[in-house]
Amino acid sequence: MNVNEIIKTKRDMKELSKEQIDYFISEYSKGNIPDYQASSLLMAIYLNGMKEREILDLTLAMAHSGDFLDLSEIKGIKVDKHSTGGIGDKVTMVVMPLVASCGVPVAKMSGRGLGYTQGTIDKLNAIPGFKTDLSMEQFINNVKSIGIALMSQTENIALADKKLYALRDVTGTVESIPLIASSVMSKKLASGADKILLEVTCGSGAFMDSPMRAQMLAETMVKIGNMAGKETVAVLTNMNQPLGRFCGNALEAKEAIDILSGKGEKDVNMVCGVLGAHMLKLAGVGNDIVENMKLIQSKIDNREGLQKFKEMIGYQGGSIGVIDNPDSLMTAKFQIPINSVEDGFVESIEAKNIGQAVVNLGGGRLKKDDPVDLAVGIEVLKKIGDEVKQGEPIMIIHANDENKAYSQITFLRESYTFTKEKVEKPKEILGVIDGEN
Ligand code: URA
Repeated sequence: MNVNEIIKTKRDMKELSKEQIDYFISEYSKGNIPDYQASSLLMAIYLNGMKEREILDLTLAMAHSGDFLDLSEIKGIKVDKHSTGGIGDKVTMVVMPLVASCGVPVAKMSGRGLGYTQGTIDKLNAIPGFKTDLSMEQFINNVKSIGIALMSQTENIALADKKLYALRDVTGTVESIPLIASSVMSKKLASGADKILLEVTCGSGAFMDSPMRAQMLAETMVKIGNMAGKETVAVLTNMNQPLGRFCGNALEAKEAIDILSGKGEKDVNMVCGVLGAHMLKLAGVGNDIVENMKLIQSKIDNREGLQKFKEMIGYQGGSIGVIDNPDSLMTAKFQIPINSVEDGFVESIEAKNIGQAVVNLGGGRLKKDDPVDLAVGIEVLKKIGDEVKQGEPIMIIHANDENKAYSQITFLRESYTFTKEKVEKPKEILGVIDGEN
């Protein structure tokens, strides 16, 4: 097989065979294909797309390029959840304990933050003592004992995707539906769950800023998951503004405790309720989404979800005291409000900028191994549709370095637009795609 021929096939808009795809992934993973040839093929895929069959073959080849986890020791239907990323997205920390408190086993691997999106693992690391680097044996034993474990994704899952993703990041080939779909689904298939729930975010804080592209991505991933034999459902969510009130690691861990204590904001409650309800449906708990949402809400009201979170923290070496006293989580030294310079209604928020400001304050990483200041972040006081008076705070910067905080004020203020007209609050859920759509 000849790599140059593979590149020319895609350049000339023809379909790649399974053999060509398998050869490329296997030889690139072994270091036998140089990055310049891989980049050329990625760009040809970016420009000319792929048929569903090619995306499935690419997904399976990448899934098998590293470890393939076996969760069969855990009884029951294991449902994995994946979000394509957002700002203020603390959903995993909330939904997973709620679903586990309904008796569904949760064995979830999550990622660390990179760029303007933060990762669940960094948020959990804000809980003193909490261990996210469990061995596979501990991970499985914890799920068998208490029904839940959350750990950082092992280094060896979908190895080819790791290499290719790093290359896409520097060759202008990230925003391609076949490449995103195969990247996400290869990791999900290798993670061993029986069924998959995808949250596909859409808006100014997401990879996909148009609803049409978000829907296309969701449909592609659902098809690939189902073709690979795993029932897959996608929920499209609105990411035109940060989710909930806080963005930043410790701040979001505290907010997750608040939500599980019944004190969550409406938008984040809705997203957690709908995603939780679809996970329960996939796990065979109940077919009716509205009834499942009521069950999820009951686990907030009776605090069983919060107790499950506490149990998980204890099992993973963390300080359970944070549950009764969330204010004991680390806080930043300075809280600096940003006040509105005009009267009106919030019309739009450039959500990516809020995520970027968290990184600029030290709360995220630009490179994989950058250190992270877990205490810093942004508190969002005014959301789309809210009325604002001149001089009223719209955000609070939580910072450990005053200069860094002041350097973000203009950038953050300019992320908002206002209008004199009343603005409707955005819908949180934009659609659901399942195998039957
Ligand atoms: N997340 C992934 O895992 N891969 C992509 O390509 C984009 C988002």
